[in-house]
Amino acid sequence: MSGLNVKIRDLVKVHHTGKIEVQALRGLNLDITSGELVSIIGPSGSGKSTLLNIIGGIDKATAGSVVVGEKTVTNLSVRQLVDYRRKVVGHIFQNLNLIPTLSAQENIEFAMVASGVSRSKRKLRVQELLSTVGLQDRAHHKPEELSGGEQQRIAIASALANDAPILLADEPTGELDTANARLIAEYLVKINRELGKTIIMVTHDPSVARVSTRILRIEDGIIKTALAPSEVIVREKAVSYVDQIKARINEINVEMAQLESDFRTEKIECEDFVHKHQTLKNIRDSLKEELSRMGIIP
Ligand SMILES: Nc1ncnc2c1ncn2[C@@H]1O[C@H](COP(=O)(O)OP(=O)(O)O)[C@@H](O)[C@H]1O
Ligand SMILES: [Mg+2]
Repeated sequence: MSGLNVKIRDLVKVHHTGKIEVQALRGLNLDITSGELVSIIGPSGSGKSTLLNIIGGIDKATAGSVVVGEKTVTNLSVRQLVDYRRKVVGHIFQNLNLIPTLSAQENIEFAMVASGVSRSKRKLRVQELLSTVGLQDRAHHKPEELSGGEQQRIAIASALANDAPILLADEPTGELDTANARLIAEYLVKINRELGKTIIMVTHDPSVARVSTRILRIEDGIIKTALAPSEVIVREKAVSYVDQIKARINEINVEMAQLESDFRTEKIECEDFVHKHQTLKNIRDSLKEELSRMGIIP
């Protein structure tokens, strides 16, 4: 089955860990047309995985809607979601998620057993999928006997096993070297073009993002910019939000050191010192909070 449209409106997700609330998505809107290969880039902690998990029916939205084809995913019951995950979406993760005791062939077949595909049909489909990812000669290898890139190609074949129209890939090249990352990106392009699958891929690698038809930048839980694939490398370097924050923290540290020295040498009144020091400290704290929210320890 070829792709489906994806329509996301005002999507909000609040994660709760004990008493702490993290707003991962803050009213995100996004339209993806059937057959697109879209990349999502953005700082760590910006909500990319959360978005993919909600589209994939793994995580539940707090508010807003996700419509895939004719289905409103955000309204599905738990039972309907099981069916949705089996038939509508295939998921590929960063950490190679194959079952270690099963061969490549069995790993691909495994996804079809739960869907009740007959044994003979499964065998045929496995051969077809192994050839889609160019690994017919690795059918009987266990994951540990395959390279990281080969494992990820088997993971792609497993995700395609049920012929789902949508493929979600969360950092599919995150654990791979450059050459294997490129190869995986090329297979995704092939699957998008030849099988017409709608692919939504999260990646931090600009050279992988470039293969897509559209690149979206997510920041603080909303889509900030759409880039043409040719723009991405240059813009990625220019717009490093994290680097800007880090630079500002360094500046504030220098300003605070100067202020302390001025106070010690009595160039500044006590009251004035306390006020200025507190103001700088507040700004620095909020910048540090922003960094840790993005998963970076300042
Ligand atoms: N299961 C969870 N429980 C609590 N907080 C979470 C959970 N998953 C993600 N978060 C938080 O939500 C924010 C977005 O996370 P995530 O979607 O994983 O970002 P990304 O994939 O862009 O790195 C982060 O601040 C993260 O710590
Ligand atoms: Mg993530």
